[in-house]
Amino acid sequence: MFSEAVRTMKELNLTTAADTIEPISWRDDRLYLLDQRQLPHQQKWLDYQHPDEVALAIQQMVVRGAPAIGVCAAYAVVLAGRQAWQLAGVTWKQAMTAPLATLDQARPTAVNLAWAVERMTKFYHSLPDDEDPEAALLTEARKLHQQDVAANQAMGRLGAALLDKNSTVLTHCNAGALATAGFGTALGVIRQGYRDGRIKQVYVDETRPWLQGSRLTAWELIQEGIPTTLQADVAAGLLMASGELDWIIVGADRIAANGDAANKIGTYALAVLAKYHQVKMMVVAPTATIDWDLPDGSLIPIEQRDSSEVTHFNGEPVAPAGVNAVNPAFDVTPAGLIDGIVTESGVILSPTTEKMLRHRRSYD
Ligand code: MRU
Repeated sequence: MFSEAVRTMKELNLTTAADTIEPISWRDDRLYLLDQRQLPHQQKWLDYQHPDEVALAIQQMVVRGAPAIGVCAAYAVVLAGRQAWQLAGVTWKQAMTAPLATLDQARPTAVNLAWAVERMTKFYHSLPDDEDPEAALLTEARKLHQQDVAANQAMGRLGAALLDKNSTVLTHCNAGALATAGFGTALGVIRQGYRDGRIKQVYVDETRPWLQGSRLTAWELIQEGIPTTLQADVAAGLLMASGELDWIIVGADRIAANGDAANKIGTYALAVLAKYHQVKMMVVAPTATIDWDLPDGSLIPIEQRDSSEVTHFNGEPVAPAGVNAVNPAFDVTPAGLIDGIVTESGVILSPTTEKMLRHRRSYD
């Protein structure tokens, strides 16, 4: 089991390349994750030395957000390599199959998980059979980690450039430093936009049922002094009708080849409302979030989470016992409702399959 010896970031002396909180850290031969279930009240780090425990941590939302899940999975492959070498010696590559399959299935919607496992798998197949793979795997995982921070900073600049001065924006869920290796995708654009004088006010949807907006996004933004107003998800329509809102800026868990984008449940409803009220819709995600194998968003698997997340709050029931409840964690926004997809390699305005493919050719 993972060590329950939780520690604070200060105790661990964690530095941040992204100039923001970083939820994932490798130190002293183990993986540390900031336990996002406890935020904003407590900052506790849990440490992991076994890949199956990391898969469970992903499933239970100790770490969440598509890019963060991907980076975390890369470090879990390092732990799998260590375990496989200890158990199987020169046949360690075969011993990787089972833990990596478990990891791959931890959460279904964020393609960054499968992407990171695939990238690490290709890498370990290039390694010799008769050498301990841990050091080489760690170097590769660290590379992936740093690339995510750099991608977020690039997206921040590209996305912010789309905003007029003094814009008012709304974000949904948490696509911030906590959902990535640092800085954030949608919140990266918001951070950069605020620094550049392009954003004057940020509205944050609380994001039922897990409250990523109120617990995580509001926490990230107020620490930086960015003018932040929290609202119930159901208040978004009134805000748009007021004419005050310029942009909705969100992340994505998986983008199909035609630009349809899966993100936190509720994003689709926002996009439909935005179209009616002529509010612009920006999706910010690294190229690792694009699933080129899926022609459109109808094929994106939608995670169904436990209904107790809807019927209960902090362990207390908020619905009658025995009521039937559903809890889809994501929905899909059709490309036709998106004004711009921002990746680290450029911006795709009003995405279509043709534009997406042109974009791919520019960075492949
Ligand atoms: O269920 P979660 O908290 O993992 O969902 C996260 C989101 O929907 C984010 O918006 C998405 O992963 C983009 S994160 C940069």
